[in-house]
Amino acid sequence: MKTRITELFGIEHPIIQGGMHFVGFAELAAAVSNAGGLGIITGLTQKTPADLAREIAKCHDLTDKPFGVNLTFLPIVNAPDYPGYISAIIDGGVKIVETAGRNPEAHLPRLKDAGIKIIHKCTSVRHSLKAEKIGCDAVSVDGFECGGHPGEDDVPNMILLPRAAEELTVPFVASGGMADARSLVAALALGADGMNMGTRFIATREAPVHEKVKQAIVAASELDTRLVMRPLRNTERVLNNAAVERLLEKEKTLGTDITFEDIIEEVAGVYPKIMLDGAMDAGAWSCGMVAGLIHDIPTCKELIDRIMAEADTLIRKRLAGFLAEPAT
Ligand SMILES: Cc1cc2nc3c(=O)[nH]c(=O)nc-3n(C[C@H](O)[C@H](O)[C@H](O)COP(=O)(O)O)c2cc1C
Repeated sequence: MKTRITELFGIEHPIIQGGMHFVGFAELAAAVSNAGGLGIITGLTQKTPADLAREIAKCHDLTDKPFGVNLTFLPIVNAPDYPGYISAIIDGGVKIVETAGRNPEAHLPRLKDAGIKIIHKCTSVRHSLKAEKIGCDAVSVDGFECGGHPGEDDVPNMILLPRAAEELTVPFVASGGMADARSLVAALALGADGMNMGTRFIATREAPVHEKVKQAIVAASELDTRLVMRPLRNTERVLNNAAVERLLEKEKTLGTDITFEDIIEEVAGVYPKIMLDGAMDAGAWSCGMVAGLIHDIPTCKELIDRIMAEADTLIRKRLAGFLAEPAT
């Protein structure tokens, strides 16, 4: 399939694996890229720029296809060494960066001078337009359904994507709630040039996370996520568990007085415990409503091949079949 996104990134299929903390290691990124999509290493999961450089080198060993690095700009005072991470990306010969979180403008000149294409992930039309204005090459439009941080506007993709299509000139992908061929075809119909998946890619054979994480996603329904940290305006969609219930109870009790320190036990440093050790109740971890559509743990290639084959059938048979005079 050829779209503006496949052309921009030099990939076979318009499917991106979004950066995911303690999931987006070289093994997963390479598996997605080898399957014809765009795999992305999560920059900040690597403790130092030197660690990121090693992860990038490992990914080059595992694939000769394009892959990207995610740089998440966090709303915290002691910022990570972003210039150092960017040096690792540039020196590692990575040509695609997914930015997320805050406005990446301050870092764009260095990235662009190195010939890197930028796809900025954001959750609103206004932030998408801003990304376009500051020179991002593409946008990943993340709807309210998404796992991770959906922002504070709560606009689902059925509205957000066509609104983005109305306003944007640069290509964009649909992110949040995407799982299969139906998602891809719907995203294209709503004006996107492809799709970005997070949660779906965790439940794959190559995702280097504990088996219990994959099983939890397969077992979950679309009713099993919760929104946490809303009172702190740092809303995150997570899979419900004992820690999340405790966290929500604190939010209820403390109301607007709540601070980050009050919930530190449930949210700080929990990712390695969950993703690597499989301690499923260790804290709150991002997961999309799309868990309700995930019923198996295929390889990335099986998943992407299935999506592309079923998308072909959907478009040629189901959709064309609705026309009064089907195309020949
Ligand atoms: C476990 C997990 C960790 C994530 N970590 C990050 C991250 O560090 N940076 C980021 O930009 N997005 C992160 N995301 C968001 C994903 O890249 C993607 O935008 C989102 O999962 C899309 O929604 P979906 O899960 O419905 O596919 C994370 C998502 C999940 C599920």
